[in-house]
Amino acid sequence: MKRIAVLGSTGSIGTQTLDVVRRHPDKLQVVALAAGRRADEALAQALEFGANAVALGAEARIEDAPDGVDIAFGAEAVAALVGLPEVDVVVNALVGAAGLRASYETLRAGKVLALANKESLVVGGELIMPLAAAVDERRRAAGLAPAHGPAGALMPIDSEHGAIYQCLIGEEHREVERLWVTASGGPFRGRTRDELRDITPAQALAHPTWNMGPKITIDSSTLMNKGLEVIEAHHLFDMPYDRISVVVQPQSAIHSMVEFSDGSVKAHLGTTDMRIPIQYALSYPERWDAPVEPLDFTKLGSLDFAEPDTETFRCLALARIAGERGGTLPCAMNAANEVAVAAFLAGEGSYLGIAECVEAVMGSHDVQPVESVEQLLEVDRWARETACASIR
Ligand SMILES: NC(=O)c1ccc[n+]([C@@H]2O[C@H](COP(=O)([O-])OP(=O)(O)OC[C@H]3O[C@@H](n4cnc5c(N)ncnc54)[C@H](OP(=O)(O)O)[C@@H]3O)[C@@H](O)[C@H]2O)c1
Repeated sequence: MKRIAVLGSTGSIGTQTLDVVRRHPDKLQVVALAAGRRADEALAQALEFGANAVALGAEARIEDAPDGVDIAFGAEAVAALVGLPEVDVVVNALVGAAGLRASYETLRAGKVLALANKESLVVGGELIMPLAAAVDERRRAAGLAPAHGPAGALMPIDSEHGAIYQCLIGEEHREVERLWVTASGGPFRGRTRDELRDITPAQALAHPTWNMGPKITIDSSTLMNKGLEVIEAHHLFDMPYDRISVVVQPQSAIHSMVEFSDGSVKAHLGTTDMRIPIQYALSYPERWDAPVEPLDFTKLGSLDFAEPDTETFRCLALARIAGERGGTLPCAMNAANEVAVAAFLAGEGSYLGIAECVEAVMGSHDVQPVESVEQLLEVDRWARETACASIR
């Protein structure tokens, strides 16, 4: 039995994680939950799954606290959940840089991190990956790691990275030539900058393939999501940026690919349902039955591929620049993006203004080598303040 803490349990990934648990109650047990504002929903989940620790990011008035459920508030309480002795695996499905501390503390506590919160790696990959390597080492020494393949301390939930993870099993790192990260292209694929000028939040929230939380949906439409994923892939798979390519695959049937030194390419295909990569992150090294329709190749039709348009969708190019420059620049870039996306969703900033804001903050950031979580939180704070001043 794996005992899990689900952080961000009321969100898109969080609720789908709970669906996976419903399907496998003999293998997974939810012991702790964290959410932001939806207190009633989180408490109903605690009742259903018998979790006795709940942390809420925002203060809330709890009228009817269920018996035996310990409720705490604030960012510290959310991060503290991961250290509970009854937690074996943490599913980090928080949104944004707010997930950094939880990722860091999970691995510091020697636990397995099933990671949806890509922003943690974008912001703090330099701090998180050495911790993951240390946990892998301990899992091997304790006989907890599978006989073959990765030791499994950091399991990606992002479908692209879950795909690459699986393509790499049994392969030598030195024989990997290139990672191909696939992109749906978002709802505005093929449009010009002029056609994007008056995009509204409602239009940008209508993603063609995935039903996701609002922040990642906007990021998918600007291609910032793909930029964040390139940085995530760089850290997770220890791959230089010039050997990570993005290719638009509008059907989203291919979740990503790995090219090897002999020219062979492994692609990972599957139904577009996030419960599959979530479940794999929890079942590894096993595979369990999935609560989804299998891919039907006879109905799939054609597979198309195209280059991403980084002139129109500047955010992908900016994220790559931030990743290549490294240090604290990805942290500043990510914070600026979070502020600009929130402003756009609130009707206070324009769609094209998102990339402009990110570029302005990156341009005025004094890049430092990454040293600590505290330093990154300070850079994050500075970048948010600077971004607010450049929202248009
Ligand atoms: N959705 C997908 O299909 C998908 C796919 C791949 C990767 N991801 C990644 O997974 C992460 C989550 O995405 P999502 O789409 O699931 O987002 P979402 O639907 O917006 O859910 C976010 C969750 O985080 C909680 N939360 C937000 N701020 C918090 C805080 N300060 N403290 C505690 N909890 C907080 C929210 O709680 P309340 O709602 O209660 O406020 C909610 O439960 C993101 O990093 C995203 O990039 C998502």
